[in-house]
Amino acid sequence: MYEHDVLVIGGGGAGLRAAIAAHEEGADVAIVTKLHPVRSHTGAAEGGINAALRDADSWEDHAYDTMKGSDFLGDAPAIETFAKNAPDEVINLEHWGMPFSREEDGRVSQRPFGGLSFPRTTYAGAETGHHMLHTMYEQVVKRGIEVYDEWYVSRLAVTDHDDPEDRVCHGCVAYDIKSGEIGGFRATGGVILATGGLGQAFDHTTNAVANTGDGPAMAYRAGVPVEDMEMIQFHPTTLPSTGVLISEGVRGEGGILYNDEGERFMFEDGYANNEGELASRDVVSRAELTEVNEGNGIEDEYVHLDMRHLGEERILDRLENILHLAEDFEGVDGLEEPMPVKPGQHYAMGGIEVDENGETCINGLYAAGECACVSMHGANRLGGNALPELLVFGARAGYHAGGRDLGEARIDTGPSAMSEEEDVQTPVSPGAIDAGDEDIAADGALVEPSEVIDHHVTAEERRVDELLEKEDGVNHAEVRADVQETMTQNVNVFREEDNLKEALEDLRVARERYQDVFVRDPSRTFNTDLIHTIETRNIIDVAEAITLGALAREEFRGAHWRKEHQERKDDEWIKHTMLAWNDGNPTIYYKPVELEGEDKTYEPKERSY
Ligand code: FUM
Repeated sequence: MYEHDVLVIGGGGAGLRAAIAAHEEGADVAIVTKLHPVRSHTGAAEGGINAALRDADSWEDHAYDTMKGSDFLGDAPAIETFAKNAPDEVINLEHWGMPFSREEDGRVSQRPFGGLSFPRTTYAGAETGHHMLHTMYEQVVKRGIEVYDEWYVSRLAVTDHDDPEDRVCHGCVAYDIKSGEIGGFRATGGVILATGGLGQAFDHTTNAVANTGDGPAMAYRAGVPVEDMEMIQFHPTTLPSTGVLISEGVRGEGGILYNDEGERFMFEDGYANNEGELASRDVVSRAELTEVNEGNGIEDEYVHLDMRHLGEERILDRLENILHLAEDFEGVDGLEEPMPVKPGQHYAMGGIEVDENGETCINGLYAAGECACVSMHGANRLGGNALPELLVFGARAGYHAGGRDLGEARIDTGPSAMSEEEDVQTPVSPGAIDAGDEDIAADGALVEPSEVIDHHVTAEERRVDELLEKEDGVNHAEVRADVQETMTQNVNVFREEDNLKEALEDLRVARERYQDVFVRDPSRTFNTDLIHTIETRNIIDVAEAITLGALAREEFRGAHWRKEHQERKDDEWIKHTMLAWNDGNPTIYYKPVELEGEDKTYEPKERSY
């Protein structure tokens, strides 16, 4: 058994930041990650890091923009903690040597991004995440933090108390992709989930193939509620053939969207009379798809993003990476031609329920970054707010797990925060067909740390043996493709009841087919077929949670548009959608949104750009 004070699961931005923070507290930290850290999806982040750095800006304005962007579904304590701490995190990166783009006078450059009242997005060309990841990885190496890379964590080692709030997370079980060893990892101080996004639940996504929702799925099955899972961000500018991201930085620098008629539709068709292309992402994505649906799309599929007027010098200085992406993936020269773009799944606003200190309701289990929901993005995240979020809350989770007193959190977590329960009419019963012994022994006897870990290691060995010994069955790729197709068809930018129900039925079929899944490759080394098979189970669970939340939320808020419910219903719906796995019988309940900040209440207002 491997043993450390703090285990960080995931080696992307949130994981690295958490590990550095826990190490600063003197903890013996290890990162367990299915990818080498610098291959993490944070490296694909292009646009930037929002922080109120200038005298003319303020954390209060950043907090307000974030709350407005969230369509008043964000929690004020999280948003204010975030906006206050983001500047220090940027300065930290600067001290660690991050190669930010700069002004003539040497100050870090900032540019406009959607939904911001001040140009507060710092950046490093159009490859900010890449530089951030490398800057932090250097710090991890410098500190001698142990990294178990290419170890896939497939199960949390949690006690089996009936009430999730009594459970304790003692570690995890991971599969060494290189050797096939299944190892138990014990953490005496805390386990921090930092597994990133879940974009592989969709087939047109900016997310890497590794973004399979492992953290939310494992935490959900272990008893942690997942929050606001229906809130999925569709980025307005992705390349049609691959989903590769074309940064909002292009529009921040002045890039213009045109339809097939050559109209600058964001202004000319009144979608966002003030901000145009720099309205928030939910608004721009709906506008693009409306144009396409009304016959104004190009090839009935996409619109054009034009940056030619910015000039070669500025493009090469600030957006060079975009030229390469457009050329390599679409064969388009962005200096000479407009680029084809359409909305694509980009980000999960929801995730594992945590408080401002990164703690879940299970003792010893934390989460940070995209896999977590603190909640600061609410119903729509502002571009440039993901990277500072993972820095601020990654650091807080690391400090807390490392033993620092961060004060009591204001955000309540766990089933005891429930304000009302909901019975949603679903066409099929959701949940696991094989919930059985998945994560918890369910007899209340599993408490002692090494027994807990051994139990989960044994369960995982059994599962892997079964998968490898089976000689025939369904290939995971077919099941995964079906899930991605139905999610993209039915749980996209525009949602309606019948489609959501159809998706739930399709997911039920996927779950049933998954019972018969088998792994073609019987070997133990670099068996990606096995890893993808295990991931596919996670994809099914998160896809179902997204769809259940979307069906239950009968209003239009932020990224969640419902055909039958065309208004934001503040009287009824300023509340978080919570899903509890409930040992395989998911239940939906709600908890209030906290609009009370330190010195003010954020009164919901009509959101226009
Ligand atoms: O458009 C972008 O560069 C993405 C930024 C973000 O999602 O924050």
